[in-house]
Amino acid sequence: MDKLKKYTNLEAQIKGILEGETDAVANMANVAALIHFEFGFWWTGFYLVKDGMLVLGPFQGPVACTRIPCGRGVCGTSWKKAESVVVPNVHDFPGHIACSSESLSEIVVPLKKDGEVIGVLDIDSREEATFDKTDRECLERIAEILVQHI
Ligand code: SME
Repeated sequence: MDKLKKYTNLEAQIKGILEGETDAVANMANVAALIHFEFGFWWTGFYLVKDGMLVLGPFQGPVACTRIPCGRGVCGTSWKKAESVVVPNVHDFPGHIACSSESLSEIVVPLKKDGEVIGVLDIDSREEATFDKTDRECLERIAEILVQHI
């Protein structure tokens, strides 16, 4: 199945599971699990803005760092710029925070509510250049859907 088809199926599953549920942690946990196991990524999860930092939220994958300052790493950069960041090879990204030595490429998509970044969706892959324009567009749409349910 091609990537776009997978995202189309995923979006339908996400809409279904979020319907009627407003609990933020429950919804982020299920969205992380759905994305993670659809594609077999290495790490899929959320960081949430709390007291001026990004703090680890629901995720699937190995243990990760708990706090990331604004502008630091890929997550902090996405937060600061309020836009998605696609990193084909994390070794080429200055300031990348290596939570796992296995991660090789990464995408971070901001969660925006009323024009403000309230957190980020972070995905790590063990392969190089996993994420492209399709991932970015589809994950941004998933982030928009999720934000309506948190
Ligand atoms: N690599 C991220 C840190 C979070 S982990 O990948 C889960 C970064 O540079 O912001």
